[in-house]
This record gives sequence, C-alpha cells and structure tokens, in this order.
Amino acid sequence: MTLPTHSRVALVSGAARGLGKAIAVELLQAGWRVSVGSRSQPNLGEWGDALHWSPYDARDPSSEAAWVNSAVERFGRIDGLVHNAGILSSTSVMAATEAEVDEIFNVNVKSPRRITQYAWPYLKQSDQARVVVVASLAGKRVRTAEASLYALSKAAALSLAHGIRHCGDTEGIRATAICPGFIATDMAQQVPADIQAKITRPEDVATVVRTVLSLPFTASIAEIPINWQVESEY
Ligand SMILES: NC(=O)c1ccc[n+]([C@@H]2O[C@H](COP(=O)([O-])OP(=O)(O)OC[C@H]3O[C@@H](n4cnc5c(N)ncnc54)[C@H](OP(=O)(O)O)[C@@H]3O)[C@@H](O)[C@H]2O)c1
Repeated sequence: MTLPTHSRVALVSGAARGLGKAIAVELLQAGWRVSVGSRSQPNLGEWGDALHWSPYDARDPSSEAAWVNSAVERFGRIDGLVHNAGILSSTSVMAATEAEVDEIFNVNVKSPRRITQYAWPYLKQSDQARVVVVASLAGKRVRTAEASLYALSKAAALSLAHGIRHCGDTEGIRATAICPGFIATDMAQQVPADIQAKITRPEDVATVVRTVLSLPFTASIAEIPINWQVESEY
C-alpha cells in the first residue's frame, strides 16, 4: 500500500533561496512534509509542523548527519531526498587551484553523496523512495573553458545520480538527475538582460522535481534535461 502524500517526507538542501526554495514550497503545497537543510533559516511562509529546518553547510560534514538525524527525529521517516545546494565557478579546469577544485567538489558532489549514505537506511524503509540530484546540462556538455570546472563537478553529480540509481535498484529506491540549463535565480545573474526573461523559471523545475518524487517504483527515470532553448541534442 502506498502512503498518502501528506505522510511523505522530503529533505531538500539549499532551500532558503533560489531553486531549492521553489522546490520546498512546491512540495509543501502538494502536501509533503519537508525538512530543509540550509546555511540560513528559510523563510518559506507558515507551514506549521509540516516544515522543519536544520542548519546544513556542505563544508561541514558534521552538519549532514545532524540534519538527517533531526529530520528523522521530527518526522520519523524519509521518502525523498533532493540534492539542490550547489555552487557555480567561472574558472577553467586549467586555471583552477586545488582549493577551488576541492571546494566545488565538496559542495556539488561529496556532500550529497554522504547525505545519501546517511539517509539510505531510512529510504530503504520507505515504500516509495526517491533521490533527486540537481545536476545541470553543464554536466552533459562543456561549452566554454570558463564553464569547465563547474561542468566537471556537474558531470560527477550526474554520475552520482546514476550510481545511486544502480545502488537503489535492489533496495526499492529510485534516483534521477535533473539537468537544467539556465534557471532564473541568483546563479544565472550573468545571463544577458534580453535573455533573462526567456530562461527557465525555478517553479518549472520544481514542478518536475515534485512529479519525479511522486512516481512509484514502476517508473525509473535516469535523467531529465530541461532547457530554455532548443539545442541540437537538448
Ligand atoms: N541557476 C541556474 O542557471 C542553474 C542551472 C543548472 C543547474 N543549477 C543548479 O541548481 C541548484 C540550485 O541553484 P540555484 O539556481 O538556486 O542557485 P543559487 O540561487 O545560487 O542557490 C544556491 C543554493 O545552494 C546553497 N549553497 C551554496 N553553497 C552551500 C554550502 N556550502 N552549503 C549548503 N548550501 C549551499 C545556497 O545556500 P545559501 O543561501 O546559504 O548561499 C543556495 O541555497 C544548484 O545545484 C545549481 O548548480 C542551476
């Protein structure tokens, strides 16, 4: 028997602003209970007991287990995990320092992998467990030198989603990589003004994430590319 949505619990990282905030609000509106892991307390409106917050900084691994544990203490279960928190870089793979490589891999790849490990026992207990990794179209093609370090980290995030998908297959856990192009958030501030109005809205991506989280085990979706424009492949 599958649980009604109002009993389901999703963890969303980096949901104090941008795409993560849109995903958290979309899930709350759909009746999910949501635990936000973010560096600052989110201001998502009045959701009463349905909303939980735990301080989470991807550069502080102790905050990851603390978030998972406090979410389970509050809600008693985890059905969905949304790895949304991420950072951009405009440094090329040749110009990058070791510290810059470490920083972007810590936030975009290593922390979501560890959080998934911590949440795994609880996801295994869910009758409809889902992990969503917000990767990027940048993880599927490298368009410029300046985008190449970010692309390297997002290609790894994409592989993380695929790896989780394989690990989850025998555990009743599905995983999906969401691969957007430009989304109208702070991260896309460098997009020229005439294009800003045309790029994907965070609410568009949030709708897709909510849909993926709501699907039963019978629907495995490896990747969803989302673009604001038509490219040859995406
Ligand atoms: N916007 C785009 O064009 C675009 C396109 C493709 C993919 N994406 C991906 O979408 C995701 C969301 O990005 P966004 O567009 O919403 O960008 P954003 O507005 O810059 O938000 C980034 C989020 O990540 C969080 N974050 C950054 N460093 C963190 C850390 N060390 N620990 C915990 N949280 C941290 C931020 O938290 P604070 O508020 O504390 O800084 C913020 O909530 C990212 O993974 C990004 O790579 C974005």
